[in-house]
Amino acid sequence: MPKLIVIASGNAHKTREIQALLGDGFECRTLNDYPDAPEVEEDASTFAGNAVKKALSLVDWLKHEEDLTEGWVLADDSGLEVDCLDGAPGVRSARYASGTHEGNSPDEANNAKLLAELRSKPQHQRAARFRCVMALARTGTYAHPQLFDGTCEGHIAEAPAGSKGFGYDPLFVPENFEDTFGTLGAEIKGMLSHRAAALRKMKEWLEAN
Ligand code: IMP
Repeated sequence: MPKLIVIASGNAHKTREIQALLGDGFECRTLNDYPDAPEVEEDASTFAGNAVKKALSLVDWLKHEEDLTEGWVLADDSGLEVDCLDGAPGVRSARYASGTHEGNSPDEANNAKLLAELRSKPQHQRAARFRCVMALARTGTYAHPQLFDGTCEGHIAEAPAGSKGFGYDPLFVPENFEDTFGTLGAEIKGMLSHRAAALRKMKEWLEAN
């Protein structure tokens, strides 16, 4: 029987990536299947804090769903850390340009702000990584979720390139490559990404538990 997982995200890019990486042994639902689930304010100071908050909020909301007594909730929080900016945009990656807690900024605005912050920095000072923390919780319990993290090292390009992917993909050049994720596309990103790294750990753990 496939394991039932509700992904605590409605972001089609993310959920597609996660579903593709999990493969056939999993039946995935997303927040698009639960449009009334409450929005969670991502106001924690760490990726793990936000991922745990999102996972437990959805576990609570799903407690009356009868077909979910044996399932899992998976929440991820992810973002970009740039070394010479002391780890910014970090947990604020989605709302970097707006500078507030509320409301995400358009990807183009976030990318423009990042390029402006890095103006005149040579490549060796543009080191960055994507980081992802996944929180996996059992439905029907409030036990602390199991956490899995993954990173993808690289650097920030001097100009956007490519229209594949989302977020900072047009600016992020993974280690050992010369093109951005925006140019490299889903197949290569699926092997290298921070989400893939975290998901591999999670799959291993689920197979053993
Ligand atoms: P989250 O949805 O709260 O995890 O916010 C993540 C934000 O970080 C996104 O809105 C993107 O700006 C950025 N981000 C996370 N993962 C990726 C990725 O794989 N590619 C590009 N940007 C990403």
